Amino acid sequence: MLLLRKDQTMATPHINAEMGDFAPAVLMPGDPKRAERIAHMLMDDAKLVTDVRGMLGFTGTVNGRPLSVMGSGMGQPSATIYATELYRWFGVERIIRVGTCGGISPKVKVGDVVVALGAHTDSAMNTLRIPGVHFSAVASFKLASAAVAAAKEADNVHVGTIISRDHFYLPVEGQVQKLADYGVLGVEMEAAAMYGVAAEFGKEALTVLTVSDHLLDGSADMTAEERETKFRGALDLAVAAAFV
Ligand code: HPA
Repeated sequence: MLLLRKDQTMATPHINAEMGDFAPAVLMPGDPKRAERIAHMLMDDAKLVTDVRGMLGFTGTVNGRPLSVMGSGMGQPSATIYATELYRWFGVERIIRVGTCGGISPKVKVGDVVVALGAHTDSAMNTLRIPGVHFSAVASFKLASAAVAAAKEADNVHVGTIISRDHFYLPVEGQVQKLADYGVLGVEMEAAAMYGVAAEFGKEALTVLTVSDHLLDGSADMTAEERETKFRGALDLAVAAAFV
């Protein structure tokens, strides 16, 4: 569905930008205010290109190369709406989610970075895609390789599976320990659906996460200050993937 505004420029139900306003690569944090901070952190020339429902999106350049940053909101339905519109109507080729996750694997510590090769899920969003099939939600190999190469074998960067859940608070008896037994690195709420949308449109997606808390090891959550400084490491890997 494309809406024609009075001024004859194109808009979609959730993005009030015009074709050409977005760069081919979009960094996508959950929080629109974080999108604004990232845009100004990385770019001197970041311009606001969309603000429907306060879901801010910016475009500018990094070393002369175009880049956009836009919030996804929380959860798979919200992320799916924005990813779909960006891929389908705004010429976006790759979306790199930059966010936080709860640690699950004992190998992962608060402040570490997770590159999500694949995302298990308890969501029905990808089961609706291909009748009778449990969809494999996987990252773009090209983008994942670029992020991993940029990490230069840093021992705080982990590469593997995560889980994208539809609940933040609902405890499911035994689930987190079982996920740990299967080597799952962390939990967040968007990646599986975003990988599904990328597959639907033949585009690329990757998720790079900072571990903000740990569900099993009892360690303290990151402070607000730590969130910003540690987050920078994950952001650098995401930028490397954006420009590969
Ligand atoms: N679930 C649990 N803990 C978390 C999450 C999540 O989605 N994100 C960051 N910490």
